[in-house]
Amino acid sequence: MLLAAIFVGSGFDNGTGNPQGIMGIQHYEKGPMWEGTYLSGHMQPQFQEAGLISCDEDMSQETKQMFELLNLRTLRLPPLQVLPMNYIIARIPTNSSRLPELVAKFRDAKLEALEAEPTGFAVKYADEVLHPLSLWQQRLTSPSIILICVAKSDTSIPNTEEEALIAGDWIGMVTIRGPLPYSTFQLPESGQPVPDNPNGETRWHLSNLYTSQVHRGKGLGKKLVISALDIAREQARMLDKMRARIRLFCNPSKTVLVTMYKGMGFEEAGKCTLKEAFVANGDQELVPRDTQSTDALRGFWERRYGLAMEQVLDA
Ligand SMILES: CC(C)(COP(=O)(O)OP(=O)(O)OC[C@H]1O[C@@H](n2cnc3c(N)ncnc32)[C@H](O)[C@@H]1OP(=O)(O)O)[C@@H](O)C(=O)NCCC(=O)NCCS
Repeated sequence: MLLAAIFVGSGFDNGTGNPQGIMGIQHYEKGPMWEGTYLSGHMQPQFQEAGLISCDEDMSQETKQMFELLNLRTLRLPPLQVLPMNYIIARIPTNSSRLPELVAKFRDAKLEALEAEPTGFAVKYADEVLHPLSLWQQRLTSPSIILICVAKSDTSIPNTEEEALIAGDWIGMVTIRGPLPYSTFQLPESGQPVPDNPNGETRWHLSNLYTSQVHRGKGLGKKLVISALDIAREQARMLDKMRARIRLFCNPSKTVLVTMYKGMGFEEAGKCTLKEAFVANGDQELVPRDTQSTDALRGFWERRYGLAMEQVLDA
């Protein structure tokens, strides 16, 4: 019914009068499948002419409200991002009475990510799997670390965000670390820009961005980054700072990733070493004492290979 109403709200007849009309609604319902059809131009002429939901302004207020009811993101092309209702993006509450469960879920989700995406992170599965739960708890509860997750639940609607996090599968995450002092944030040899007024800003390091393979391409990765940026901006405001500077390190060979970050306002900001990445992520205790005595050690820990990117947001 709602889908039929959306259809009508977009300026068409009720869409059920002919098989193509019904087909249109079904495609709509299937989200990405509909998007593929629409973007490929495989639409009936009457839909193309009308520019079906091709821009926000074309939609009536009522239609927009219905999208919100369905928890679909307002449509714009490209891209179409359809977020089903059972994804929840939330900051992990470190003061929770169910912290041990959250810690275990954090460890399991990160290990799964490392197994699935060995080149996506500075740390490796073989090392991380050896850590005791106490280290994972230390990471999660460190006052400078904020972990944001996407939980997916196939069951009934939970009462609270915490319940959703505990009951659901963690299929995505991102970490933001800060506010960081200028002395540790600034890496003079990396070539990163020097701020005019370091005291006027807060500094953050974003890492751990991940969504599991089957849930990619639905806008969740970008939503995670946006959530992290929002938190950094909000905290800068609370600290009476004018700006929030957010930096990340990534593998320059991952061009899709670099393009995604650029599209979100990040700019290239120098080159980092693996050692710097470990420290920036809060894992300095995992860096061996000797990173320089052989070519192999230097090549591994001290080579300036990682791409640093950053953006500065007004608070
Ligand atoms: C990077 C990552 C988090 C993106 O997750 P996602 O859920 O697919 O993200 P989104 O759906 O928000 O898509 C983000 C962008 O990725 C690109 N993208 C997503 N799916 C794509 C695909 N199948 N082919 C090409 N580009 C694609 C698009 O540029 C998209 O931007 P757009 O919406 O403007 O077109 C995910 O691919 C991942 O976990 N990769 C492995 C871990 C990793 O490398 N992390 C980065 C550490 S720095």
